[in-house]
Amino acid sequence: MTLTRNHDIPDADFFGRSTPEELTENFGSPLYVYNENILRARCRALKALSADPGFKVCYSTKANGNPHLLRIIREEGLAADAMSPGEIAVLRRAGFPRKDICYVCNNVSRDELALACREADHVSVDSVSQMESFGQVNPGGEIMIRVNPGIGAGHHDKVITAGKNTKFGIVPDDFDAARDVLRKYRLTLIGLNQHVGSLFMDPKPYLDAAAWLLRTAERFPGIRLIDFGGGFGIPYRRHEGEKAPNMRAFGQKFDALLDAFRARTDYAGAFLIEPGRYVTAECSVLLGRVHAVKNNGPVRYVGTDIGFNVLVRPVMYDAFHEVVVYGRQGGGAPGPERPGGESCFPAAYVQERPLMTQTIVGNICETGDVSARDRELPEAAVGDVVGVLDAGAYGQAMSSNYNQRLRPAEVLIAADGSCRLIRRRDTVEDLLAVYPE
Ligand SMILES: Cc1ncc(COP(=O)(O)O)c(C=O)c1O
Repeated sequence: MTLTRNHDIPDADFFGRSTPEELTENFGSPLYVYNENILRARCRALKALSADPGFKVCYSTKANGNPHLLRIIREEGLAADAMSPGEIAVLRRAGFPRKDICYVCNNVSRDELALACREADHVSVDSVSQMESFGQVNPGGEIMIRVNPGIGAGHHDKVITAGKNTKFGIVPDDFDAARDVLRKYRLTLIGLNQHVGSLFMDPKPYLDAAAWLLRTAERFPGIRLIDFGGGFGIPYRRHEGEKAPNMRAFGQKFDALLDAFRARTDYAGAFLIEPGRYVTAECSVLLGRVHAVKNNGPVRYVGTDIGFNVLVRPVMYDAFHEVVVYGRQGGGAPGPERPGGESCFPAAYVQERPLMTQTIVGNICETGDVSARDRELPEAAVGDVVGVLDAGAYGQAMSSNYNQRLRPAEVLIAADGSCRLIRRRDTVEDLLAVYPE
């Protein structure tokens, strides 16, 4: 029953010179662990999508805004998209210059728009009403608008961000009203963007939406930015045979669209994409510890410190994350031998355990606090370390202090296999600091 999960980076040993047990011993549990090599590889795969000289990858900071990871992403030559003053602050901390920050926001105050105009290269708003606000704070300025192509895509209704059932974007019926606002405030429209949804595995809806955006761009001569959004999926169910998206094949089709557009127009501007998940999801394993096991009827519950305040995706979107039982050093299970270079997790610990169906739950006071239901896993025991895979996007970034729990620390496994803290765990003092005496 050896568990293996081969990352597509040969010889990448996910935890470097540490074991999951050592990491949780040294840095506490739960703990987000990131692998630098995988992060860099994902950045490079995205940059290779197009050979167009105006092609730019803007990492979507919302997926994970740790400045240490952002610094690596910047070193790889990516720009960034921000959607809040806090995201601008972490990007600045990571060294992103103004020219490499685009602001793609939704329903924000005039003060925020004014700040974004100062701090970002360009600002995209997504309603005629927000165009009015923009015009009031920045008359005569340059503006980008987010359009709704009417085509959505994504893994869950909650992340489909185009089409009829979404708050996002300006629909074509409102284009005349949008032009009126441009005139009223002497605004120059510099670009169009869209984001049709998150986590597509089939590239067709993205490519269809991209083709639509390019056709729409022809109605707005003079623009210099066309931004197709993010949404690139990763195979969360890889172990069940789910295939990673074929980025090369996608890139060829995408590039062909861009080439054809340049050929039929005199467009001299840039083409942008805004991927978040694809960049950071796969480079992280969330480690936690088992504190209780019990049976309730037919269900065996494994009680961990990974509550939905730590990772909300399973509860919020019914999202699937593979779970691994690493076991523990020196306990009832065999020692921490590594099964070989390319495995992203040393699963040798638990080889002697029987497989059984188990449900992994957390320590939050809600019945819905389930991170993985009915999984065939080696029998987990109190004290074991467990890992939730592909946790790097919308993991720590969506964590909270619900139940007054502390958001976890983050550790980076550097390219040389060493590890270092890149975010400390919250403290109780942090929780109390926000309340006036
Ligand atoms: C405007 C915009 N751009 C980019 C993204 C990143 O999406 P993903 O992480 O799926 O690539 C999002 C996600 O919500 C978004 O709303």
